[in-house]
Amino acid sequence: MRHYLKFTDFTREEYDYLFERTVKLKALHKAGELYQPFRGRVLGMIFEKSSTRTRVSFEAGMAQFGGHAMFMQSKDTQLGRGEPIEDVAQVISRMVDIVMVRTYEQTIIERFAENSKVPVINGLTNEYHPCQIMADIFTYIEHRGPITGKTVAWIGDSNNVSRTWLQAARIFDFKLNLACPRGYEMTLLGDEAYGADHFEQFYDPYQAARNADIVTTDVSVSMGYERETLQRKKDFINYRVNEKVMLQAKADAVFMHCLPAHRGEEVDPEVIDGPQSLVWDEAENRMHTQKAVMEYLLLGKIED
Ligand code: CP
Ligand code: NVA
Repeated sequence: MRHYLKFTDFTREEYDYLFERTVKLKALHKAGELYQPFRGRVLGMIFEKSSTRTRVSFEAGMAQFGGHAMFMQSKDTQLGRGEPIEDVAQVISRMVDIVMVRTYEQTIIERFAENSKVPVINGLTNEYHPCQIMADIFTYIEHRGPITGKTVAWIGDSNNVSRTWLQAARIFDFKLNLACPRGYEMTLLGDEAYGADHFEQFYDPYQAARNADIVTTDVSVSMGYERETLQRKKDFINYRVNEKVMLQAKADAVFMHCLPAHRGEEVDPEVIDGPQSLVWDEAENRMHTQKAVMEYLLLGKIED
């Protein structure tokens, strides 16, 4: 049994397979053809934080597969009243076939997975957001071809999304330039050591964006960090993706954002709503890529 708790849980070969599968599953869906390998199966979804895209993409994907997705907000379950995560995992995984968890510390989802009888997928933690970066890389490849050898410029916080880009940089062999205010630099976790081919820390957004193929950003105040809002709004004031930042990047560069976005804060409307932006395809591809992940975790490789 496999889990998908961080981007490095799959190999490059597995991502190649999952992207091939995503192309097929997306085409079937667009053609209106029914493919229901999950009839009678249930996805349990535990949310300790808010969500639009993650909930809708998993729930819609599961329905398309002929299964059922069960939405649980921790505050409405006994988890919100202090039931140990290990006990919750034991109970839920006896009744459902696969679980998605959105929570705070990565250790919480790890403890859940250790006690789960079924595969567990990370739907975002404080440290990582693997499903997001899988969809982002798939979207880039759809529009521009291979990401290997390219440069991704991240303008903003060293958060769960940028740390997942960093994990992906080594697997897909691209470079991540990260520009953030002093005091918000990327902290490398566990065995995350990176050479200059894969990661460079900047403080100037213009320098980070120079010759980039992808320019991307995210909210400066992630869920769970709300008490730092006032300070962060001040600290990140010069870390906004505007047209001048985009002009530093390559002429055919794309803009990406995991959403939700805050126009006038981390990104200008001219950029996110402009011709280089891929944000809507990125959001839609959450569903197609996650269908491939769920199919792989439950059924293994599909030979056609
Ligand atoms: N990008 C993303 O995960 O969005 P939600 O918080 O709406 O799920
Ligand atoms: N970094 C953001 C991503 C939201 C999808 C957060 O964790 O709130």
